[in-house]
Amino acid sequence: MNFDPEKIMQSAPGPYTMIGGRRYLYFMGTGYLGLHGHPEILKAACEGMMKYGMGSATSRRAFGNSQPILDVEAKAAQFFGKEDSFYFMTGYLSNSVIVQALDGTFDLAVADESAHYSAYDAVHLSGRPVYKFISRDPASLDAVLREQCTEGKRPLVITDGVFPVLGALAPLREYYEVLKNYPGSAMVIDDAHALGAVGPTGRGSVEQSGLPWETVNTNVQPDNGPRLFVAGTLSKAFGGFGGIVPGSKDFISHIHEVSPYFRAANPVSPGVAAGCARALELVMENPGMITQLHDNTRFVRTGLRELGIEVADTPVPIVCVVLETVEMMKKVQADLMKKGILIAYNPKYSDLGPKGGIRIAVFANHTQDMMVQLLEGFARAMKN
Ligand SMILES: Cc1ncc(COP(=O)(O)O)c(C=O)c1O
Repeated sequence: MNFDPEKIMQSAPGPYTMIGGRRYLYFMGTGYLGLHGHPEILKAACEGMMKYGMGSATSRRAFGNSQPILDVEAKAAQFFGKEDSFYFMTGYLSNSVIVQALDGTFDLAVADESAHYSAYDAVHLSGRPVYKFISRDPASLDAVLREQCTEGKRPLVITDGVFPVLGALAPLREYYEVLKNYPGSAMVIDDAHALGAVGPTGRGSVEQSGLPWETVNTNVQPDNGPRLFVAGTLSKAFGGFGGIVPGSKDFISHIHEVSPYFRAANPVSPGVAAGCARALELVMENPGMITQLHDNTRFVRTGLRELGIEVADTPVPIVCVVLETVEMMKKVQADLMKKGILIAYNPKYSDLGPKGGIRIAVFANHTQDMMVQLLEGFARAMKN
């Protein structure tokens, strides 16, 4: 396949990113804490690579447990306030890791119709029946459960915590209330876009919603509520790479016993792991990064609203803008690109309406001046 040379990335993603030979002010992608090119992370990764090579060439059941992998798991456990964690080759497998660990504890799966591909892969691979409910609609979830959960069947509900293009938060509290009517139920939340970015301390959409974080990934059934599970990645806010599931010792040990991604596949490259361990340390040493991301998100959302554009008032660093016409959105995207500012216009994505929408990603290290350039560019493009 021939890829458009103007779209080939030539640097680490960050507030400024080289693409197709041009340096852009970049409001795309998922590097919310702005860490992908951080020199300390890259240094740690290079040192790890030099010491351990490209990979362990064996699974963790054998001798594939290098120190950087164990460091990531210890630091992720610390960041998330859990006893342990499981780190593996890609965030895409996070939902599968959890759903496989829950095998035998649910009878059917019910997925948000706009949930990520990886959520659908996970539930389809479970071999249980899969049903859908209308995106972010607790009444629709309720109706599907009433119809399908006959004879005490235990549902597993799966949803994104934050939707990747719309930037909307799933109404987790409302789902939780609905699920109280189903003993033995579980809710799996793909929080790829929220961990490290959303919630007062960056623990994601569960923290943001006020649901009991301490029960997450523990297999503990809270008072009448569903068991809660969170699937994550280090490839977005944390500036690294690979899937992460932080949880209780028991839950993680159970994953080790049943997961092919522990028993029958190579772990993440140790160099990448060494970089990720440093990234997690940096975030813990500088919690101000997360508050800065929240401040920047507020600045961009407020600025767009002042231009008369409807945007939700949420702390999610993905800002979706739907203008009156497709032509207008294409024009804004093209005008900004000419000025050296990159945002995305997505004509189609599962959770967008028929017109598609503009997606703006805010980073913790976008400066005020950069965000003003974005907003002024928007204002200009909409006027002409
Ligand atoms: C909602 C969601 N889940 C999972 C993933 C996969 O994560 P990763 O890219 O780290 O494999 C993505 C990726 O973009 C995503 O948007």
